[in-house]
Amino acid sequence: MQTIIEPFRIKSVEPIRRTTTAEREECLRQASYNLFLIDAKNILIDLLTDSGTSAMSTEQWAAMMRGDESYAGSESFHRMRAVVQELTGFRHVIPTHQGRAAERILFAVMCRPGHLVPNNTHFDTTRANIEATGAEAVDLPLPEAADTQLRMDFKGNMDVAALEKLLEEAPPGRVPLVMVTVTNNSGGGQPVSLDNIAAVRRVCVRHGVPLYLDACRFAENAYFIREREPGCHALSPKQIAQRMFAYADGCTFSAKKDAFANIGGLLCTNDDRLAAQETNLLILTEGFPTYGGLAGRDLDAIAVGLEEVLELDYLRYRIASVGYLGRRLADGGVPIVEPPGGHAIYIDAARMLPQIPRSEFPAQALAVELYRHAGIRAVEIGSLMFGEHARHELLRLAIPRRVYTQSHIDYVVESLLEINQRKHELRGLEIVEQPPFLRHFSARLRPL
Ligand code: F0G
Repeated sequence: MQTIIEPFRIKSVEPIRRTTTAEREECLRQASYNLFLIDAKNILIDLLTDSGTSAMSTEQWAAMMRGDESYAGSESFHRMRAVVQELTGFRHVIPTHQGRAAERILFAVMCRPGHLVPNNTHFDTTRANIEATGAEAVDLPLPEAADTQLRMDFKGNMDVAALEKLLEEAPPGRVPLVMVTVTNNSGGGQPVSLDNIAAVRRVCVRHGVPLYLDACRFAENAYFIREREPGCHALSPKQIAQRMFAYADGCTFSAKKDAFANIGGLLCTNDDRLAAQETNLLILTEGFPTYGGLAGRDLDAIAVGLEEVLELDYLRYRIASVGYLGRRLADGGVPIVEPPGGHAIYIDAARMLPQIPRSEFPAQALAVELYRHAGIRAVEIGSLMFGEHARHELLRLAIPRRVYTQSHIDYVVESLLEINQRKHELRGLEIVEQPPFLRHFSARLRPL
């Protein structure tokens, strides 16, 4: 059999609501053309993010009922920690309410003004949390990743030569840690090879700098390694993930992605001294170290999710279904970042809409049109999100895990192909109001 099917059946459903074009026009006006400001009830298909939007399994819901809500030393914490330690090998497992809380604590402990933190590509919250300490976030993607149309197996890799150069030229003590984001979200959801993580590791060891993984989508990355990296096909996704973590000194993790949880994060390390400082900060803002801003039931959902996400049948379906969306769009003439990534398809809006300059946010213009036309919400990853650090003008269609069926995806394809037929009619936007950082969440815009 060739057909890859959803490896689950649906037991509980949630209605989605159609709106008229006129209603959507009004929603856009009220939201100042910022899709983060539109209420979910007015969205038909929500591809804003794959974060916290997964469908939990029956086993996860059952585990939630077992949640031990003790303030200190709960059974839920011990169950979660055992799973994480077995997977990652890290001694210290610090729960946080989501990924960025782990980032904030890690960088508050490790970074000072003038420091540099290299990453294959920083996610927006990672960059913002580094910059909030006065340090500088440096992206070191492969030079080939600049070409959105180029197909490479591991286009998310870090440029190891550039890392080596940065570490050689930086004054001693200036780089407190190196991060590698798997998969490379801001770089198109592209995977990072084991070979690349190993090479980064060797450079880090030579310079005495710890290596951390931003491990949000570690399981999707492990599946790509299994499919694409020589010598890895006989390994299970879990064995590959264990090898990825073995190269690192610690990780940050958002359980809202590859743990199928609706909330949660982790900060892990093998460094006893850092862990002590981190738990002190944790108590200040997140909570006691055995719950860290989460309910016991959330910890149990994470424990079960971390095992389910590594099932081969699930990962095969996941990567195939995202690839299906990508292939159909590309075959229909919509320029996507090639090859399709793990959790999302990214449309190269600068290429699709050459009449809209970067200063007028082509990917946001496409996001607005996709909502107006079909009630679909996607997210701009370009100059609105990253300002002058933006490398591309992308519209990300992030696919929530186990949530939408193939006919939902066919509807998304049809909508985008219809817009592509009249793409020359689209116009850009300008910002009328913006906050000082992470502006894409709340900026107000106006069509030009
Ligand atoms: N790192 C990466 C690579 C991420 O993609 C995210 C979140 C975070 C860190 C922060 O985790 O949301 O739990 O605080 N990405 C979501 C997204 C929001 O839509 O890509 P968080």
